[in-house]
Amino acid sequence: MTLEFSGRVAIVTGAGGGLGRAHALALAARGAKVLVNDLGGTTAGDGGSPTAAQAVVDQIVAAGGQALANGASVTDPAAVAAMVQQAIDAWGRVDILVNNAGILRDKSFAKMPLEDFRAVIDVHLMGAVHCCQAVWPHMVAQKYGRIVMTTSSSGLFGNFGQANYGAAKMALVGLMQTLSIEGAKSDIRVNCLAPTAATRMTEGLLPPPVLAVLTPEAVVPALLVLASQDAPNRTIACAGAGTFEAAHITLTTGLHLGSGPDTPEQLAAAWAQVSDRSGSQVPASGAAQGQNEVTQAMAARR
Ligand code: NAI
Repeated sequence: MTLEFSGRVAIVTGAGGGLGRAHALALAARGAKVLVNDLGGTTAGDGGSPTAAQAVVDQIVAAGGQALANGASVTDPAAVAAMVQQAIDAWGRVDILVNNAGILRDKSFAKMPLEDFRAVIDVHLMGAVHCCQAVWPHMVAQKYGRIVMTTSSSGLFGNFGQANYGAAKMALVGLMQTLSIEGAKSDIRVNCLAPTAATRMTEGLLPPPVLAVLTPEAVVPALLVLASQDAPNRTIACAGAGTFEAAHITLTTGLHLGSGPDTPEQLAAAWAQVSDRSGSQVPASGAAQGQNEVTQAMAARR
């Protein structure tokens, strides 16, 4: 597997600090030309300043790399289109998109204003949608693309006070599942990364000794693999403190019960068997999962 990025052009959103900054620096150090995007607002998404992205660009350039700053909000499709055009005008292509920009508006669900729900969905989900749509035609035309969505354990497994964030992060997994299928014929590979790192987003949540091992740099190897030429496709990689895992959405073998009058009672009695995870699999697509149900029904008729 080559983790060399010479000749490649990458866009990293939200790369003015935290994980995005570490991703941008690592891609540039390995030869990529990097468009460093960041709105430069607060963790809640308020305000904005171009200095964060420019500081990362300055660091890359000082180290001998090539980089450009961009201050677009990923929530603005026209600004995102202009951002992608900025990369095309400068370097002629976009090979890698890292959808990393994000905000937090934590509150228990009962107390969460709809505005905070919408704002988080807008940045994480719609931000990634805007960026993917803007790079997609270029990646299809060049028959090459690597897209990484930044998901979260909060979406995959849930976290108190993060209904908005968890929903947005799991939505990115759904986006990845379909884009990875649609992009395959053009060698566009789409994957998810669920990081754990000490950044301003996790400030105050964990004790200092734990924060010390959770460096953004310890997540970066997973990003480099998912953005590389030999990247997998349709993977959910988890990374934190130098530990790497893969998460899967699996399907149990299940049980065909038919549709007789007492099927609800049979199902209630058989629930343990329906949810038994031994022999569970990862379906190749949503259609494949539906086919599994039909296959069992057809087999029962024979
Ligand atoms: P961070 O707050 O340092 O980085 C997020 C960056 O996104 C900021 O620099 C911010 O200015 C930028 N941003 C926010 N809204 C934007 C917008 N509309 N347009 C462009 N840029 C915007 O936090 P961190 O931790 O580095 O987060 C990076 C990504 O990793 C986020 O998607 C976050 O949800 C995700 N994540 C982080 C985890 C962690 O443990 N730190 C855990 C799971 C996921």
